[in-house]
Amino acid sequence: MTRKNVLVFRDLPDDQLARLRAAHEVTVADPRTLPDVFNAALPTTHGLIGASHPVDAALLDAAPRLEVISSISVGVDNYPLAELNARGIVLCHTPGVLTETVADTVFVLLMATQRRVVELANLVRDGQWKSSVGEDLFGYDVHGKTLGILGFGRIGQAVARRAALGFGMPVLYHSRRAVDLATQAPELQGRATHAPLDALLAQSDIVLAMLPLSDATRGMIDAKFFARMKPGAAFINVGRGATVDEAALLAALDQGSLRAAGLDVFAKEPLPLDSPLRTHPRVTPLPHIGSATHETRHAMAALATTNLLQALAGEQPTAAYDTAAG
Ligand code: DGY
Repeated sequence: MTRKNVLVFRDLPDDQLARLRAAHEVTVADPRTLPDVFNAALPTTHGLIGASHPVDAALLDAAPRLEVISSISVGVDNYPLAELNARGIVLCHTPGVLTETVADTVFVLLMATQRRVVELANLVRDGQWKSSVGEDLFGYDVHGKTLGILGFGRIGQAVARRAALGFGMPVLYHSRRAVDLATQAPELQGRATHAPLDALLAQSDIVLAMLPLSDATRGMIDAKFFARMKPGAAFINVGRGATVDEAALLAALDQGSLRAAGLDVFAKEPLPLDSPLRTHPRVTPLPHIGSATHETRHAMAALATTNLLQALAGEQPTAAYDTAAG
């Protein structure tokens, strides 16, 4: 088989690099730290593999031999889908292998937000635990509360299983179409209900956004959205930060209608130091760690490597993204 040129633009585990090197010529260059090496490699690159680096038409112009981009992520918002489709460049991603880990992260954040875990741990660390905690430091229950989920794909359903089966939470979900629970998630029958957005927002104690970023979802979670939420409810975002109007989120927190927010994603990442979300007393911020466990990041790297090797060999990749569908 012809050896092709692969450009690795984010850390890849050694065993996956070895798989690539066995078949192809490999350059490793993170554009944040080695922009010159990265740019110099583009004109001869056939395959790109990495994550968290926006790809635009100018980058594609600089890489005229590019056949495939293999993203080590499930989200594809860093890629110009129509451009890739028009140029016949295959895009691959890593669905499936991160589902349970991201659902765990949702629960970590949801419970930390309801029970004020980070705030109270900091109180102990700061030497401020001087008497048994009073009402002003009480949290709110998780079990039995109504959870509203926006986006009910694999991860949304994995969250719903934890919520409904583990914590006795009634689950409402909103997605373009109702999911056929009988065939796709029978254990959620009678426990998760498809609801119009208005009803979900009005009835949920905790609203969880799991939305991909697209033209349709950018800024969708705005002042009107927060105004329709049940007063005193909490908001959790583990999808993409830019689906939220962050100024509206802050206003809802400051006006008191929104009690708390747990955020793993932000419009700009890393979160700028001057963002009020970084230090807001009722925000629990995480540094985009949805899938960040040793096991899952390795599984994502392995799937992305497999996808790349398959595409460069002219085979159908295990997880190609349909760029025509947008
Ligand atoms: C994903 O896989 O899309 C995660 O959000 C990490 O970017």
